[in-house]
Amino acid sequence: MEQFTFYNPTKLIFGKDQLEQLQNEIPQYGNKVLVVYGGGSIKRNGLYDKVMLELKEIGAEVFELSGVEPNPRLTTVHKGIDICKTEGIEFILAVGGGSVIDCTKAIAVGAKLDGDIWDVITRKATPTGALPFGTVLTLAATGSEMNAGSVITNWETNEKYGWGSPFSFPKFSILDPVNTFTVPQDQTIYGMVDMMSHVLEQYFHNVSNTPLQDRMCESVLQTVMEAAPKLINDLENYELRETILYSGTIALNGMLQMGYRGDWATHNIEHAVSAVYDIPHAGGLAILFPNWMRHNVDVNTSRFAQLATRVFGVNPDGKTEKEVALEGIDKLSAFWTSLGAPNRLAHYDIDDSRIEEMAEKTIVYGEFGNFNKLGKEDVVEILKASL
Ligand code: NZQ
Ligand code: ZN
Repeated sequence: MEQFTFYNPTKLIFGKDQLEQLQNEIPQYGNKVLVVYGGGSIKRNGLYDKVMLELKEIGAEVFELSGVEPNPRLTTVHKGIDICKTEGIEFILAVGGGSVIDCTKAIAVGAKLDGDIWDVITRKATPTGALPFGTVLTLAATGSEMNAGSVITNWETNEKYGWGSPFSFPKFSILDPVNTFTVPQDQTIYGMVDMMSHVLEQYFHNVSNTPLQDRMCESVLQTVMEAAPKLINDLENYELRETILYSGTIALNGMLQMGYRGDWATHNIEHAVSAVYDIPHAGGLAILFPNWMRHNVDVNTSRFAQLATRVFGVNPDGKTEKEVALEGIDKLSAFWTSLGAPNRLAHYDIDDSRIEEMAEKTIVYGEFGNFNKLGKEDVVEILKASL
């Protein structure tokens, strides 16, 4: 293992009927509250009304920013920052999935910034603080509810980047599995692919002696794989939603990644694809991840073989390590396809016409990936294999 410091200040409030905790949490930070939400799912399922009721109970002065896009856009972040600055907002409440939360993080940091938040997202400026914010999560996927990461798209320039800072942790996050009952089947599938991908990004590292971390990663993968096929046909099953919601948080709240850095190259490539084509994040991951794996199988074949035998039940008898590794990758891809996730970029009508452009976008900060450094040619190969 390498040296590490673990820091995660987000208070996690998990379970049924926890929304009234808003009444304990928000008054600690202020009275002027900006509620940030997406395209209307929370109005349709009644959560909006419930949140407003809680805010009324504490006498909050409520402002709203609605219409946060999936793959949230810089223009919406700017709108939120304007509201915060002109109205003197004291606390922001994100009610939604990863996109709403990521947008809120950028608004919170941007509201305290003397300059454009895009400079922070593109690593030209350093955050100086943030408005306090909390979340009511409605979709199990990104882990954004308990990490400092945020991913924002500049649609004018077709750029999508992840960023984060010690200021962008939520103060608290309320996770009630019931609030995820209405997530449609496709988004439920994407969410599970995303959390599995987060675990896989972390699993592929080159640091030695991480037996507990390996087993923890493998457990999360196995748990999601056990629940996923049942959940997609039983969307209002409380126990399955509960398992998946908790898995999504654990997958990316820092608990798994102690003592090493994960790879994260596939996420970088996917962000370039969705910057150009605006596709669902995990739809892209389901296509790209198996091809990133095939591309890198020779880097540390035994890691791929370990995953294949421990998680995908590949029988190693009479096979080379590489055969075992490749069989595991095929099984991962087949599993995602069996759920209904796509496995070709053609699914989104993506052809080879903008491959160069996407590859350029992945290397703006130079070679990337911690398990194996990738350059432009590697990305082109992975994208071509994904067509
Ligand atoms: O906008 P509304 O109407 O709310 O509908 C949303 C949206 O259309 C809907 N939805 C959410 N909760 C629902 C629901 N529909 C019915 N019932 C509910 N309870 O689902 C759709 C997708 O929502 P979105 O928030 O976009 O999904 P997700 O949570 O997967 O977030 C994706 C974004 O997060 C970024 C991705 O790149 C993408 O931009 N990521 C953020 C990360 C982080 N902050 O750590 C890491 C991830 O790897 C990822 O890159
Ligand atoms: Zn992701």
